[in-house]
Amino acid sequence: MNTETITIKDKTFELLIESKEIKKAIGQMAEAINRDYEGKEVVVIGVLDGVFMVLAALVKKLNLSVSIELIKLKSYEGMSSTGQIRKIFGLTTDLKDKHVLIVEDIIDTGTTLAFLLNLIRTHQPATLRTATLLLKEEAFQNQCPIEYVGLRIPNRFVVGYGMDYDGQGRQLPHIYALRT
Ligand code: IMP
Ligand code: MG
Repeated sequence: MNTETITIKDKTFELLIESKEIKKAIGQMAEAINRDYEGKEVVVIGVLDGVFMVLAALVKKLNLSVSIELIKLKSYEGMSSTGQIRKIFGLTTDLKDKHVLIVEDIIDTGTTLAFLLNLIRTHQPATLRTATLLLKEEAFQNQCPIEYVGLRIPNRFVVGYGMDYDGQGRQLPHIYALRT
């Protein structure tokens, strides 16, 4: 199988980040998180659907007392951000006075993150930080801080490692970018 390019539905994607590089970036994020939260209990909030691979890889590397909460949000339709958060479920535990760490697969415009930060702040956590595997720096329009960034990528549409194009491609071990 040729792993350099793949086709999903009507689109061709080319290899952008190999799994080895993804693993390394997640390892570095985990190191920083372990250092910063030493001796603390952390509530990790994973944002579904896309985060499942990043979350699984990241939490396995945390030497901390960790509890995991999953939340489902949706701001994407096809290949672009709608600017509106569509669906939501989750947040069943009380986050008051907890050390909360949001984990995302990718941050694009930052709309989803800004929404989530506002939501969680109403719970009055002790601390609130964000970790994301990928950041599209040029697309990011919000002022909110992102404490842990795995890799900064150009403003291109990507699939793989949990991220989808129209529901497909999430299972891919590497990350691919839409061919332009
Ligand atoms: P934002 O609200 O614009 O920051 O978009 C964040 C969410 O949109 C991410 O958590 C992803 O679920 C999705 N998303 C953003 N960029 C991409 C992409 O390039 N490929 C697949 N999903 C993406
Ligand atoms: Mg996501």
